[in-house]
Amino acid sequence: MQSKFFDKETHYHLGRADHAPSVASFLAENFDASKTCLEIGAGNGRGTKFLAAHFNKVIAIEPVADLSATDIDVFNAKNVELHSVPIQEIDGLNLNFDYLICFQATHWIYDSDQYQKFYTRAKKPVLDISTQVKILNQPEFFRELVDRHKIEDSYRGFDYPREDIFEDSYEIRYPAEKVAHGICSTSWIDHRAFAEILQTIEQRFGEQDIEVRVTTQAKKVGPPKEGIS
Ligand SMILES: C[S@@+](CC[C@H](N)C(=O)[O-])C[C@H]1O[C@@H](n2cnc3c(N)ncnc32)[C@H](O)[C@@H]1O
Repeated sequence: MQSKFFDKETHYHLGRADHAPSVASFLAENFDASKTCLEIGAGNGRGTKFLAAHFNKVIAIEPVADLSATDIDVFNAKNVELHSVPIQEIDGLNLNFDYLICFQATHWIYDSDQYQKFYTRAKKPVLDISTQVKILNQPEFFRELVDRHKIEDSYRGFDYPREDIFEDSYEIRYPAEKVAHGICSTSWIDHRAFAEILQTIEQRFGEQDIEVRVTTQAKKVGPPKEGIS
């Protein structure tokens, strides 16, 4: 089955903000480094690099080939084992793991029965660590831009129950191109409008970078059976 994430990977790779650096100390304080961590939906390894720096072993699952390209350094690390398959197909792999930590991916795991199995096997509650960007310069202009390119009734993933346990944020300036890729990386925006979105931002901001606040949150993800909407 093709991932519902298909077509978003390039924009995702080029547009998404880094997770807050303090994720490293959060892991150090809460997880035994000698254990093995499973990550589902590893994407371009933006989160995997935190796991690889902390855990003895990381098993990363990522079905979209462009995102899990082997030229991404972290996937070549000695303690990282990458499997380019969707969660529906990982039964045969006989994975042995202690923790299950995902980065902005549990809502994409639409095979909830399969997720339930992995959820039950994990030693600690499943974590989903996600990062959101808030544009600080001319937010009204960006809201209108995003609204103009919204896809009605787009797939937004499962709404598993969550509980916030950690939050940190930082401010940074991004060029127009990064912001345009970031906008197009979300599932509810028509990514084919990328050139138009970029041009609109460039017309407004010229060479000026755009100020944003990046917020990373770690959430405990509850039993999937109860939370599917
Ligand atoms: C929002 S991205 C997050 C990527 C990365 N973890 C990060 O922090 O940037 C969600 C990821 O889940 C993956 N995904 C989607 N459906 C999946 C499935 N059925 N099984 C495993 N991973 C899946 C997508 O390919 C995508 O890389």
